Amino acid sequence: MVVGAIKTLIIGASGMLGSDLCKVFPDAVKLTHRELDVTNREQVIESVPKIKPDVVINAAAYTNVDGCEDYQELAFQVNGYGPGYIAEACSKIGATLVHFSTDYIFDGSRTEYVESDTPSPINVYGRSKLLGEQEIAEKLDDYRIIRISWLFGAHGKNFVDTMLKLSGEMAEVKVVNDQFGKPTYTVDLANKVMDIIELEPGIYHMTNEGVCSWYEFASAFIDNAVPCTSEEFPRKAKRPKYSVLVNTKTEPMRHWEEALKDYLKERNV
Ligand SMILES: NC(=O)c1ccc[n+]([C@@H]2O[C@H](COP(=O)([O-])OP(=O)(O)OC[C@H]3O[C@@H](n4cnc5c(N)ncnc54)[C@H](OP(=O)(O)O)[C@@H]3O)[C@@H](O)[C@H]2O)c1
Repeated sequence: MVVGAIKTLIIGASGMLGSDLCKVFPDAVKLTHRELDVTNREQVIESVPKIKPDVVINAAAYTNVDGCEDYQELAFQVNGYGPGYIAEACSKIGATLVHFSTDYIFDGSRTEYVESDTPSPINVYGRSKLLGEQEIAEKLDDYRIIRISWLFGAHGKNFVDTMLKLSGEMAEVKVVNDQFGKPTYTVDLANKVMDIIELEPGIYHMTNEGVCSWYEFASAFIDNAVPCTSEEFPRKAKRPKYSVLVNTKTEPMRHWEEALKDYLKERNV
C-alpha cells in the first residue's frame, strides 16, 4: 500500500507520538483533543465515518501514569472505552484501526514478554490500557494494536528532557536502577506504522532494541546520574520491574542508543 493512496485519520494528533505520525502521514486528516474527544461516544461514532478514512490511527491517551491512580474514571474513559468507540466507528465503515498500547499491561514478574503472553497490569494506567485492547478486539476484526514502551520524542514531556534539565540544575541526579525496559524513539515508531498496517490484524510489540534500567538510560546522555532503588524514589503508581517487550513478528528496529543520538541531534544537545 502507498501512503498517499489511502485516506488516513490521526486522532490525538498533537501528542508526542501523534506529532511524529503527522509528519509521516502529511496528507492525513489530523484531529487534536480539542477537535475530537474520544470519551464522547456520540461524537466519535458520528464524526469518524463522515471523514471516510481507510485507516484510523489512535494516538490519544491519558498517559500520566501516577495521575491515573488519582483520576481512575478518566483513565478508563480515555484509555479503555474511548478506543472501543473508535473501533465501533471503524467497524461501521470498514476502516483499519491502528492503536497503541503499553508494556505496563504486564506485571514485570518475568524478564521479557512476547505478544501472546497473558497481561496482568499492576497499576491503573496498565489496567485502563488493557481495557482499551479488549474493547477494540471485541468490536472490530481489522485492528493492529502496537504495544510500545519508554517513549522519547520531540513533542512531549519525556524522560530524556527531564533528565537533561535536572542534570543542569543539580550536582547529582538519582535515577532508579531496578526497573528495566526498552527506550523507544517516536520517530522510529511512526516510520514503522505503515509496515504494520500491511500485516495481519493482531497485536504487535514494537520498540527500539536494547534493554536497560532508567539509570543506564540516563547515564547514556548525562554524566551526573546516581543509581537508586525504586524504594528510594516512591511513586503513586507501582511500576513493573521488567517491562521488556519482545517483538517476534516484524524486523527488529535499531538499538535505542543509535536512536538517542538522532534525538539529541534533533534537540540540538
Ligand atoms: N509515553 C510513553 O512512554 C508511552 C509508553 C507506552 C505506550 N504509550 C502509548 O503511546 C501512545 C502515545 O503516547 P504519547 O506519549 O504520545 O502520549 P501524549 O504525548 O500524552 O499524547 C496523548 C494525546 O492524547 C490527547 N488526549 C488526551 N485525552 C484525550 C481525549 N479524551 N480525547 C482525545 N485526545 C485526548 C492529548 O491531548 P491533551 O494533551 O490536549 O489532553 C495528547 O495530545 C498512547 O497510547 C500511550 O498510552 C506511551
